[in-house]
Amino acid sequence: MEKSCKNVYITTPIYYVNDVAHIGHAYTTIIADMLARYSRLTGSKTYFLTGTDEHGQKIAHSAEARGKTPKEYADEVSGKFKKLWDDFDITYDKFIRTTDQEHKNGVQKAFETMYKKGDIYKGDYEGFYCVSCETFFTQKQLIDEQFCPDCGKPTNIVKEESYFFKLSEYEDKLLKWYEENEDCILPRSKKNEIVNFVKSGLRDLSISRTSFDWGVKLPESMNEPKHVMYVWLDALMNYITALGYGKDDINMEEFWPAKVHLVGKDILRFHAIYWPAFLMSLNLPLPKHIAAHGWWTRDGEKMSKSKGNVVNPKEIADAYGLDSFRYFMLREVPFGQDGDFSQKALLDRINSDLGNDLGNLLNRISGMSGKYFDFKIDSKDVIKYHKKELDEVYAILDNVESYIFNMQINRFLEDIWKVLTVANKAIGDYEPWAKMKDGKEDEAMALVALITNIMAKVALLLDSVMPEKISKIASSLGISIDTITYNKLIVNKELVNKTTITKVEQLFPRIEEVLLKQSIPSQVSKDQAENKSSKKPEKEEDDNLITIDKFFETTLKIGTIVEAEEVPKSKKLLKLQVDLAEGRNRQVLAGIKEFYSAEELVGTQACVVANLKPAKLMGMISEGMLLAAKDENGLSLIRPETKKTIGTKIS
Ligand code: MSP
Repeated sequence: MEKSCKNVYITTPIYYVNDVAHIGHAYTTIIADMLARYSRLTGSKTYFLTGTDEHGQKIAHSAEARGKTPKEYADEVSGKFKKLWDDFDITYDKFIRTTDQEHKNGVQKAFETMYKKGDIYKGDYEGFYCVSCETFFTQKQLIDEQFCPDCGKPTNIVKEESYFFKLSEYEDKLLKWYEENEDCILPRSKKNEIVNFVKSGLRDLSISRTSFDWGVKLPESMNEPKHVMYVWLDALMNYITALGYGKDDINMEEFWPAKVHLVGKDILRFHAIYWPAFLMSLNLPLPKHIAAHGWWTRDGEKMSKSKGNVVNPKEIADAYGLDSFRYFMLREVPFGQDGDFSQKALLDRINSDLGNDLGNLLNRISGMSGKYFDFKIDSKDVIKYHKKELDEVYAILDNVESYIFNMQINRFLEDIWKVLTVANKAIGDYEPWAKMKDGKEDEAMALVALITNIMAKVALLLDSVMPEKISKIASSLGISIDTITYNKLIVNKELVNKTTITKVEQLFPRIEEVLLKQSIPSQVSKDQAENKSSKKPEKEEDDNLITIDKFFETTLKIGTIVEAEEVPKSKKLLKLQVDLAEGRNRQVLAGIKEFYSAEELVGTQACVVANLKPAKLMGMISEGMLLAAKDENGLSLIRPETKKTIGTKIS
């Protein structure tokens, strides 16, 4: 049982073919893809499995309702899943279908093995069955003696001959496994639920059905032509049949046990109880982690076809960009918790995290390196001038990897963003433009090289999350995204000695909300997301020229200063409350104390940069900036010539 595998095997659930893919399916698949890509980059031999679950009553009913045979229907929907994952550039190594002959052979071999071991016996089943969940229940478990406790739909009474798996005999062994393997079920809160469930007692599990025939037949040696296997026994076995169980076991040797089975919280019980019990019965090692994620709602509501609010992942990725969608899914919700999908939340992530923090940093590298050093970067003085910043970065990065296979992917990303903050802050602190003016070219170079190196490390870590955008960042920085570079820059903490920066288009242009659901996203927005312009793209000009779009990235508004006071102990700062007609005043800390008194400002108007990320100055938050011009005669605020309505946009 203890064998663990140095190679990495990652699985998603296999998706039922009774429905088209929605955001929940995309979520699991994107997490698995991120883990697989990361694992490959670190040099681990990796196998990533996904596929479709095609047997059972639910699929048979759906096919019948459409006038198709179950196989015709399964072919059609399975093909759609596969196409979606291909469109999403999901790097699966195998796409398994439970109707594949090799899978069916493997399941039969497993049944035979468990039967020979004495873990399977024949009996009669009498109870209730939920077709939607493909789950058996006792009457006591039902709601109002009729409805499924998981999905709320009416259940059917089932009374038929059945084979049973002796699940009850695995109670103690399962409890021992949970106890000895702290992280076998993630997150911990979910593990506790499973442990309590098992402690409350397990009943033997019905694993064959006779009232329909859309399933894997029992092995011929059983001579039971009327029986097909319970769909969950068939489905769970996919994790080993995909590696050749029952045929050639070469891949089993290499990749079993799985590093992680990713599942949604609704199917954790099948994976954390039945699956390890089946594996124990087969004398196979148990998976390292079974990780259960939460459910996505839309704008606070459960998604359902009847409400018409199911989020179509393809539509979102087409409208906002695949990488942005991937980032959002992985960053927005702590693993295991439920998450809410709203366009606003997605836009905030794109415009703020991706546009402001990541994209702009790359622009700054390209701008500064071009302006001062003809795009040539040399890291020779980085350690001399920036050991402090490098230490800060390494202290953060030392922990990030441990978050990944503990499924704390949002924390992994949060920490990478802390590293970006170190970089953005260093530019403000060291002002390379001032260093250049003072003739301290080597210091300016050290700073730009520091930022380039931080960006290179971040790019390596983010490649699994946003592969397409990161390949653009990497080519702009002149680095490769591969295991050798990963080992050099991340594991061995080396620097990129010399490199030449290449200018790239803006990676995450600001985007506005688009019309989704049944409506085709507007072409303009689509183009925005894909970085295309509806006009002919303007040639990127000299550093000092920007396009009009770029200018409009800054929101400038007229505001009235309603309160002003001096900031104690500060020579420069005044603390202002500025009304921008937003329902509350903004606090702005302005470095104008030497030129204006607090009293004379109250009641006057100013031009405010309204979409600046809030910053802390002397422990106080500042939520904007006033426009001003300073020359040898002093500083003047820039104001409208005549009073303007508060909140008016400046263009
Ligand atoms: N076929 C079984 C799995 C067998 S694995 C051996 C199955 N299929 S499913 O298509 O119904 O669900 C697949 C996955 O989608 C599950 O992990 C489920 O949790 C997930 N989701 C379905 N709706 C979801 C959301 N709204 N949000 C997040 N994930 C959700 O179950």
